[in-house]
Amino acid sequence: MAEPLGNLTRTHTCGALRADDVGAEVVLLGWAHRIRDLGGVTFIDIRDRAGISQVVVRENEALMGVAKRLRSEFVIGVSGVVQRRSEDTINPKLATGEVEVLSRDIRILNEAKTPPFQIAEDSPVSEDVRLKYRYLDLRRPRLQYNMSLRHRVTMAVRKYFDANGFLEIETPVLTKSTPEGARDFLVPSRIHPGEFYALPQSPQIFKQILMISGMDRYFQIVKCFRDEDQRADRQLEFTQIDVEMSFARPELVYGLIEPLMQTILKEIGRDVALPIRRMRYADAIAKYGSDKPDLRFGLEIRDLSEVFRDSEFRVFKQIVADGGVVRGFAVTAGNRYTRSQIDVLVDQAKQMGFSGLIWVRPGEPPTSSVKALTEATLRAALERAGASKDDLLLMAAGPADNTSKLLGQLRLAIAKKENLAGPDSFEFLWVTEFPLLEYHEEDGRWYSMHHPFTSPLDEDIDKVDNDPGAARAKAYDLVLNGSEIGGGSIRIHDAALQSRMFQRLGISDEEAKLRFGFFLEALAYGTPPHGGIALGVDRIVAILCGESSIREVIAFPKTANAVDLMSDAPSPVDAKQLKELHLKVQP
Ligand code: AMO
Repeated sequence: MAEPLGNLTRTHTCGALRADDVGAEVVLLGWAHRIRDLGGVTFIDIRDRAGISQVVVRENEALMGVAKRLRSEFVIGVSGVVQRRSEDTINPKLATGEVEVLSRDIRILNEAKTPPFQIAEDSPVSEDVRLKYRYLDLRRPRLQYNMSLRHRVTMAVRKYFDANGFLEIETPVLTKSTPEGARDFLVPSRIHPGEFYALPQSPQIFKQILMISGMDRYFQIVKCFRDEDQRADRQLEFTQIDVEMSFARPELVYGLIEPLMQTILKEIGRDVALPIRRMRYADAIAKYGSDKPDLRFGLEIRDLSEVFRDSEFRVFKQIVADGGVVRGFAVTAGNRYTRSQIDVLVDQAKQMGFSGLIWVRPGEPPTSSVKALTEATLRAALERAGASKDDLLLMAAGPADNTSKLLGQLRLAIAKKENLAGPDSFEFLWVTEFPLLEYHEEDGRWYSMHHPFTSPLDEDIDKVDNDPGAARAKAYDLVLNGSEIGGGSIRIHDAALQSRMFQRLGISDEEAKLRFGFFLEALAYGTPPHGGIALGVDRIVAILCGESSIREVIAFPKTANAVDLMSDAPSPVDAKQLKELHLKVQP
């Protein structure tokens, strides 16, 4: 039975009471977290977002009766007096652990069904159950912490941009398609039969138009929508810190975002050493086999082609002669691996797609998986790879990018197995000079690597037509611990170059006019050079919280299967609604 709140007014949160409060009359409101009935005395832990306080019930028949009815997660109001706990019951792990509230009155404000999982304990529960009962999951300390850190991060971000002269401007959610490379979510128009709005994949075009409008410096903490396959670091709807600046050069963007990262990491008491390192895309691929290298550990890939160009090992020699490469990396302290551990590694590599993985062990003399290799070649390979006598050298050969990418995957797998990537270290990196375009064999055309508004490097403009694959972009990604937390570019501000870019992408003048005509027209009215970036809030906060999935930092996320298990979205709608929207569902 629920009692009314009446005039019960909270005096303190459940996390606030300290020794200084002894003697105070207080009212606490919250949930019954744990109840311990010790016969003559009952202890009730009352919980709210701020923490937990211990309430004591003793020598009061009526109250003992109420306490007996209490179950976990009942909502209660407690009035009483703060008293010091006896020495032996002080709980140093609890902020309120020196005191307790001797209750005068306890009101049951609402009862609760037995929850499907414990709130008080971090007991293992399947994610599906957690998501179905997300409101209960959100009561647990882990998600309460994650949500509050997320709040603190976005508040700090808003303050930072405000202090730097940026305006937060809202852009439409019902809009026209923006090409960010994913599928659009479409919203049918009731008023215009057969026509659709698209939900924004990002506010890209609008923020550029805001620069044309003279807004100079824009930011927005904004929801974006992309209909793509779900992963640990991807949701259908996610949040960006979206930024655009007039008269921007990459240096200006770096100079704005680096102190922002310092500001954000301050929220968990960490510093960021500036400037943040930079690496060209081509080097990131060659040395780490990834455009988002995790720099919390070494295992850097080295090119060993020269060692094998004239060697006795015919397979590698032939690959190098045909324009391929031999690359490899030294596994720190890998010399202790047993033969069967190495066999497991080789199998793992084959599953990743390696045609072969050659290993070399330093020693006197060095040994290798290839008997034919001479001692001189092995020594040369170990030396060039920078392998010490305690390491293990792993090598593969083939086309340059592919070889590095496979070795990059193996590098990550080994780092994971060896626990090399400390969850407590934060390694930032700018990846620069991305290719502007990439060719897709399936449909035989060029696609933008970022989006079609990205400017080529000044010196590569001619390559857009002459040698598209070699044109580099004024684009940059921000990487943290091997995760892409942001991406941006300097934009094309010249209408003619923008049209040329659409042509290069195989978008006809007609189509460009239909899809982006308004934007091409706007570009012609005095567009300042401009550029910006968007940072992924979910990914940043997940890393700060030490979570491996962004679902843990989103209040109501969707499953890997794109479903909201709590509200059961998506779901069918009734025929009347479909009719109003001029829609027919194909069986
Ligand atoms: P981009 O597509 O790189 O750039 O997105 C920017 C950042 O947003 C995050 N992100 C995601 N987070 C969660 N789930 C997703 N599905 C998802 N997709 C992207 C990533 C990513 O780095 N308009 C450009 C930005 C610009 O050029 O200024 C854009 O949206 O952290």
